[in-house]
Amino acid sequence: MPHTTHQTLERALTKPAMTELIPLPAAEFSDTLTGRATHIDTLVVPIAAPSTDDAATNGGSEEPTTPQPRPSAVQAAIAYDVDVAAVADINDVSGKAGEYLTVPAPRNNNELPARLLLLGIGDESDTSLRRAGAALARATFGAGTLRTSVADGLDEGKQRSFIEGFLLGGYRAPRAGVSTPPKPMARQLELTGAAPGVLRLAETAARATWLTRSLANMPPNVKNPQWMAEQCERVAANTGADIRVWDGKKLLDEGFGGLTAVGAASPTGPRLVQLSYDGGNNDGGSGGGSYDGKVPHIVLVGKGITFDSGGLSLKPREAMMPMKTDMAGAAVVLSALQAAAELELPCRVTAVLALAENALGADSYRPGDVITAYSGTTVEVGNTDAEGRLVLADALAYASRELNPDVLVDVATLTGDAVVGLGKNDAALYSNREDLTAAFQSAAEGTGERVWPMPLADEYTFAMESAVADLSHIAGPDTKIGGGSVFAALFLREFIGGTAWVHLDIAGPARADSDRHEITKGATGYGARLLLSFLSDWNRESQQD
Ligand code: BES
Ligand code: MN
Ligand code: ZN
Repeated sequence: MPHTTHQTLERALTKPAMTELIPLPAAEFSDTLTGRATHIDTLVVPIAAPSTDDAATNGGSEEPTTPQPRPSAVQAAIAYDVDVAAVADINDVSGKAGEYLTVPAPRNNNELPARLLLLGIGDESDTSLRRAGAALARATFGAGTLRTSVADGLDEGKQRSFIEGFLLGGYRAPRAGVSTPPKPMARQLELTGAAPGVLRLAETAARATWLTRSLANMPPNVKNPQWMAEQCERVAANTGADIRVWDGKKLLDEGFGGLTAVGAASPTGPRLVQLSYDGGNNDGGSGGGSYDGKVPHIVLVGKGITFDSGGLSLKPREAMMPMKTDMAGAAVVLSALQAAAELELPCRVTAVLALAENALGADSYRPGDVITAYSGTTVEVGNTDAEGRLVLADALAYASRELNPDVLVDVATLTGDAVVGLGKNDAALYSNREDLTAAFQSAAEGTGERVWPMPLADEYTFAMESAVADLSHIAGPDTKIGGGSVFAALFLREFIGGTAWVHLDIAGPARADSDRHEITKGATGYGARLLLSFLSDWNRESQQD
């Protein structure tokens, strides 16, 4: 086997009817060494930003001069008879990541792909390569086959960043009733020099992000808790994961008081969905060294409010608009489980989706109600718009009591305060274990899905006191503690039963107002790659123990 191969990423994108289940992008890989160049529409060659090193060896000048084409770009430039430096200069292209320019093939030459695309890859960092990939996808919507040498010579991680950027930037939200759908991304991307396996990793990670985005972008008149449960059934069927679904009656009978209360006013009742992937080869003792063959069990819990009107504590109009994405946490734990199963990661993963619509009606739960969570803890409701922590209380208590997790991770678009504090690029991260915080920071570093560690500040727990129940789920009006995201995390901690735990408040990064680099407008799919990276690496670390 050659160390590197020439591989193809082929994608089939179809426009979903809104009432249908979401079709997942499919990928096929094939060796295209035998393919003729005539089926290629666009040849893509990289230009890196001028580095100071190059400038220094180039007469000792401090000023970078021209963008740096790679050898493949030089060859292409000769074939297309183009002076890259001059064309770049005229077009003000410096090689910055994501900049590009296209050059048509010389007239009367039918051998060459119709256009040459010079693509800026900047400093060749993972971030730059993701940006370059995303820019390429957007520059080639509607194209057939692209061939590129960008991956050639890069290490595997950087190749993966480029491919993921391409797939993430090329995402287009499913559109309802649009007669002329936008052009889909290029049908095929051929990569010369891609490391074996890298396409599968990148494609699986990107597909997880796509699934998260498509679920979260789905209109809330289609996406109710029942519909979400059907999507879970579909993932279970495709991956072989086990699935259990609790409907409204079962939730009531088994004591899930949070889900029952929050979901009460919706015509579509609440659901709890549990999917389990059992770690492929959990054969109990074949591992080498001190590894005893027991794989870690990681339980991922997601907030799945399919629409958050606020309930009786109704949201103002503008605040309500984005609330169809209030199930992004549930979508991302489903997607991460799908990816873990597809990659057959050697760990056990259970995803628990707490699904409800926070609607307004005669059956709405009220401020002043006292509900009993799955743990038996009673909670006084202070504001029906703080619904996420109530459904999570049930799901976390259930997970910690019944599932015996080694690590419990919850993901939730939980508080507006997280966005106030950290903006839209970082998730607020809370954990009771330093090694878990470090593991998520490292996963964030690798994927570009950023996290910022926040304090579980014990001095604020007094604000949970209630005169009529074990706990209040919001800080009383006189406590003046501020820090709404911190308080919400402290409340959740009451339900984890001492399990090693990470809470990600993703209210900021789950949505974007515009396309930017690998992020797309609307639901961003934040967290799919972060969780996947955590699942891959935590497992490896814990095996070394
Ligand atoms: N889903 C919202 C949080 C949110 C706000 C997510 C903005 C994304 C963007 C959550 O259910 C909510 O309404 N939280 C309240 C809590 C408050 C009532 C204690 C909030 O943050 O205002
Ligand atoms: Mn709310
Ligand atoms: Zn909410």
